[in-house]
Amino acid sequence: MKILNTHLKVGSLELETRLVMPPMATEKSGDGLVNEDILRYYDEKTRSGGLGLVVTEHVFVSPEGKASSKQISAASDDSVEGFKKLAGVIHRNGIPVILQINHSGSLTECDPGTQKISSSAVVNPRFAARGSINVPRAMDKDDIARIRDCFVKAALRAKAAGMDGAEVHSAHGYLLNQFYSPLTNRREDEYTGATVEGRTRLQCEIIKAIREICGKDFLISVRFGAADHMPGGSEVGDVPEAAERFQKAGADMISITGGLCGFILKGREQGWFSELSEAAKAGTELPVLLTGGITDAFHAEKLLEEKKADLIGIGRALLIDSELPAKMIKE
Ligand SMILES: Cc1cc2nc3c(=O)[nH]c(=O)nc-3n(C[C@H](O)[C@H](O)[C@H](O)COP(=O)(O)O)c2cc1C
Repeated sequence: MKILNTHLKVGSLELETRLVMPPMATEKSGDGLVNEDILRYYDEKTRSGGLGLVVTEHVFVSPEGKASSKQISAASDDSVEGFKKLAGVIHRNGIPVILQINHSGSLTECDPGTQKISSSAVVNPRFAARGSINVPRAMDKDDIARIRDCFVKAALRAKAAGMDGAEVHSAHGYLLNQFYSPLTNRREDEYTGATVEGRTRLQCEIIKAIREICGKDFLISVRFGAADHMPGGSEVGDVPEAAERFQKAGADMISITGGLCGFILKGREQGWFSELSEAAKAGTELPVLLTGGITDAFHAEKLLEEKKADLIGIGRALLIDSELPAKMIKE
């Protein structure tokens, strides 16, 4: 039997296969709420089976952390009814689901009048590439406490809606990644960009607080933008320590992807962040999910066999073919 088809315990959940639908923003919500269009999309992507877990698209935890105009909100209790329906659709198709919670920090594209916040008053290289010169305000201790609380409340809303857990988004240049990357974190306090401890402190505080409030059976994943692939940015050597810190804070799973470089690495073979997932596995016993460029069962199985990861994310290939996970499992 292929490893792809085997069960895996992640936190208190027993996943039926090693394939995961990774978070992918649908940009389908006009008012911040889950609507019929969104429910239909998730139903279509999960109804053929083959997936062991669904991670929803990123939802914003606080209005000034909204990434784009049609993003779903988890910033108020109004979101819970929609999340219940979303969990219902995916659960009816026999798959557990966790809600990806995010704050975009200096990457927000909403409301140009709002002052952007970030770890430091540094232009985000991801934004600089798009030509923006809008410098964010460095967060003070009150901002940090407030944002931590927003993540916890969003996780509680996922729990209230019957979701199986939450994924804390610390990748692709968004706020928590702005704390992780030495390119955007110039702080000199305990959240300092000079050490892995400082760069992961806020993520760990959020994980701990969610664990305390949501309990031991609530799955907590970290989407970890483990390297920036930019000069002076975060790099593979820091990954084992960061992964170990996430585990100690109470995470159940680490989902590896890119940092300020985003989620695409050109010119590499399937599983282009596998050096990073392997490094995460060196630092922790937690299950590690690898996503990026994987489109077929052969490569997915090879990555599992070579112990580069424990779980495989299938993103854009699933957008093209909703039956792909089922086919990969049967092959
Ligand atoms: C349309 C689209 C939306 C995405 N939205 C998110 C998101 O909300 N959160 C996130 O962490 N990653 C997001 N990603 C990144 C994917 O989770 C994944 O890492 C990326 O597509 C690479 O994997 P793939 O080659 O299998 O598609 C998105 C990707 C795409 C194509």
